[in-house]
Amino acid sequence: MPVITFANTKGGAGKTTAVLLLATELARMGHRVTVLDADPQLWISRWSEMSGEMRNLSVISHVTMASMETHIRENRSNTDCFIIDLPGTKSPLLTMALGISDHVLIPVQGSAMDARGASEVLEHIELLNRKMGMKIDHSVVLTRVNAMISTRSMLLVKALLAEKNVRVLNTPIAERAAFRDIFDCGGTLEALDCQKVSNVEKAMENVRNFAYEVLRLMPVRVVRSDRDGKFLGRKAA
Ligand SMILES: Nc1ncnc2c1ncn2[C@@H]1O[C@H](COP(=O)(O)OP(=O)(O)OP(=O)(O)O)[C@@H](O)[C@H]1O
Ligand SMILES: [Mg+2]
Repeated sequence: MPVITFANTKGGAGKTTAVLLLATELARMGHRVTVLDADPQLWISRWSEMSGEMRNLSVISHVTMASMETHIRENRSNTDCFIIDLPGTKSPLLTMALGISDHVLIPVQGSAMDARGASEVLEHIELLNRKMGMKIDHSVVLTRVNAMISTRSMLLVKALLAEKNVRVLNTPIAERAAFRDIFDCGGTLEALDCQKVSNVEKAMENVRNFAYEVLRLMPVRVVRSDRDGKFLGRKAA
């Protein structure tokens, strides 16, 4: 029952988009996912309302510092994976979410400002380790990457992270219209109208690879359900 938090104190880094992509893909694979929407902008909650009931996926809105742990405790038995969407600010909520996470994913676009927001999260994780002995596993996921070219600033950000020995996922999240459109249309990538949205297949492949890579990092591996959605159990990774 891993808890995954997406964090970057820089607003607009791509947290909410990455949360939605991972949550819908894990649910599609058969994992029961609960998203804790702790962002006051409530993008995921609005998407959920627009989408209606989704198989294997539930969203809890207005999650606060006071309610976060209770939501996790109360939904433990019906959830294989919790995913937390945080606001793009430095707050006590960030500290709390980091502290209860099995893995923290830090979305970074190829810009110096984004890298600074990521550094704040990395420093926070280091501080929790130093002061409280908490070892919080974490990785950077590059987002809004141009599928065709590596920009100079993206290469610089990668070099900076490698220097600091920060794990960077092999699968970046590409810049795709489909990743914007699911917020406008509701539902999943598969449900998007391929006539109107370009490269939906490529977008789906990108998200599949991202989700597989994230699953490989988890301390507990959940065995996906069969084609009829029957849950098959779980085992240690
Ligand atoms: N991979 C992507 N492809 C295309 N557009 C993207 C992608 N990732 C993010 N965006 C767009 O960038 C903007 C910011 O993304 P998002 O809301 O996911 O960031 P955030 O980190 O959650 O922001 P905040 O800190 O305000 O919560 C949105 O308009 C979103 O549609
Ligand atoms: Mg957000």
